Amino acid sequence: MSSDESTPLDNLSHEERSFAPDPAFARDAVAQATLYAEADQDRLAFWARQARELLTWETDFTDTLDWSNPPFARWFGGGKLNAAYNALDRHVEAGNGDRVAIHFEGEPGDTRAYTYAQLTEEVKKAANAFAALGVTAGDRVAVYLPMIPEAVITMLACARIGAAHSVVFGGFSADALRSRIDDAEAKLVVTADGTWRRGKPSPLKPAVDAALADGQSTVENVVVVQRNGEPVEWTEGRDAWWSDTVGTASAEHTAEAFDAEQPLYILYTSGTTGKPKGILHTTGGYLTQTAFTHRNVFDLRPETDVYWCTADIGWVTGHSYVVYGPLVNGATQVIYEGTPDTPHQGRWWELVQKYGVTILYTAPTAIRTMMKWGDDIPGQYDLSSLRVLGSVGEPINPEAWMWYRRVIGADRCPVVDTWWQTETGAIMISPLPGVTATKPGSAQVPLPGITADVVDDTGASLGDGEAGYLVLREPWPSMLRNIWGDPDRFVQTYWSRFPGMYFAGDGAKKDDDGDVWLLGRVDDVMNVSGHRLSTAEIESSLVGHPAVAEAAVVGAADETTGQAVIAFVILRGSAAEEDHDAMSETLRQHVGKDIGAIAKPRKVLIVPELPKTRSGKIMRRLLKDVAEGREVGDATTLADSTVMNQIAADFAK
Ligand code: WTA
Repeated sequence: MSSDESTPLDNLSHEERSFAPDPAFARDAVAQATLYAEADQDRLAFWARQARELLTWETDFTDTLDWSNPPFARWFGGGKLNAAYNALDRHVEAGNGDRVAIHFEGEPGDTRAYTYAQLTEEVKKAANAFAALGVTAGDRVAVYLPMIPEAVITMLACARIGAAHSVVFGGFSADALRSRIDDAEAKLVVTADGTWRRGKPSPLKPAVDAALADGQSTVENVVVVQRNGEPVEWTEGRDAWWSDTVGTASAEHTAEAFDAEQPLYILYTSGTTGKPKGILHTTGGYLTQTAFTHRNVFDLRPETDVYWCTADIGWVTGHSYVVYGPLVNGATQVIYEGTPDTPHQGRWWELVQKYGVTILYTAPTAIRTMMKWGDDIPGQYDLSSLRVLGSVGEPINPEAWMWYRRVIGADRCPVVDTWWQTETGAIMISPLPGVTATKPGSAQVPLPGITADVVDDTGASLGDGEAGYLVLREPWPSMLRNIWGDPDRFVQTYWSRFPGMYFAGDGAKKDDDGDVWLLGRVDDVMNVSGHRLSTAEIESSLVGHPAVAEAAVVGAADETTGQAVIAFVILRGSAAEEDHDAMSETLRQHVGKDIGAIAKPRKVLIVPELPKTRSGKIMRRLLKDVAEGREVGDATTLADSTVMNQIAADFAK
């Protein structure tokens, strides 16, 4: 819930448009349709079958789900497996070593292809190199890398030796990196000198140096990939080049099988308080559901498809649908390092044409950006290889959905809008392309084996047409197992709002057909270009600046990025006398440095007072009205009701 009061949920109009499943998918459709019935009849037997069919276990599991101590789940108890073996070696052993795993395209246009045999060899070398640096099973490794093959290799090498990776998005600041290193007590950091951004070198290593400057962290070594060739500072004894460590390591490595519940990774995500949460995922259940969803939601045919997910490995989509899902399924995929408009706005479509991409998975913010650039840009390329289009990260408005289908998919490719979260680990609600008649703007139906529901304030199921809160009623294989080091917060955050149910933090409604529509977050989490940011995190950064007395942050609707960060700030003492425009800019830069460029407010408005209730709570709802250019709502509970007039007038200036 938002801190002052719950946010009203919008009711969307009924969507009449519907697109029947494409007959081209008929081959799998019958089999897929039966999955719903199978899972309905016996959910655990269904997941057990998927786990056995999709993965190779060294020791079979004996207990599909242990839910004796909810909400702490244990899936596939007694089972042992190795994640990297499942993603790599077994494909080579099955005779598919020559299949391309990764077509890499750098922003400057350099390319590399890795077959499954080559990728397996690289991961074995990295596993040996990390082990030689003292990394053992159960340790944590921080990964601060751009979208280059070494990122995938690093993650799988960690998994291979039973160490958990903690990937930190390359756009995060040195401070954000350090707090994540400290929380996870990482022993090793893997980074690069830098990457390429819009044709220019963009550094990474300096942020690692700054994060570790005091010499007080748990980090013992830093392995550095040479990517953009820019000069970097060097700490002797701590830093080592990738080429000198991984490059010279032995390519012989036998993967050891670990318990199904062995931690696979920690990924930090924003919550309703200032401190990011370390979401913990484990091995057997996570791999089962990422492989299952990747295969069925995208109708994957590993022998012939060329799959491309545009997400960065810094986010969960990059974990589940660049690294684990596709590789466990033996798919061929494209990885692109750079921005979509470098060197020109047709770069993505040029890549689709060049590699013959058949399945594209991207975010609404990218789709809306491309819409703005115009139909003629994709129109210049041959996109006829495409057959399935996916969307993830935020609600997709029906117009963007229709554009995606019409302009990119030539009115021929099904669009699958997939709802899930860092916490759920894998897709939860989505159409199946061969089975579901798709509907623009709706994520539609829970996947087989998933029990999603829409409930009211009291946790009672709502009927069709009523808006409420999205919950999950039963545990699922790829669910988060904990918040790293903070089980109380895990219970409190996800399992206490509606007892016995997982509360996702999203508003939702079912339409008259029973299809689920996601209505956005109902808590203080914003979604900017598909990136989760918390209002509290940005507020605490702002009040950390000596000039700021108080701050309130809201997410305002934005045509392209979904939401934009808008901050309202009261200055402290003499700072209030300084030039407001200059001060706003200083504070924007401060947040950028503190958290990362993605968190920089679009606007920082200096205000004399914030709207507060008599009990002192900030009414963000009113600030959101101002930020979205609406008439300010009911302000009668404010201690001083004139405050909003002033803020609205200043905002409009
Ligand atoms: C939102 C990204 C509507 C939602 C995989 C969720 C969506 C948050 C969709 C998780 C979708 C994600 N339709 N909203 N298809 N997919 N969301 O953890 O608010 O970065 O709670 O995971 O994104 O964001 P996260």
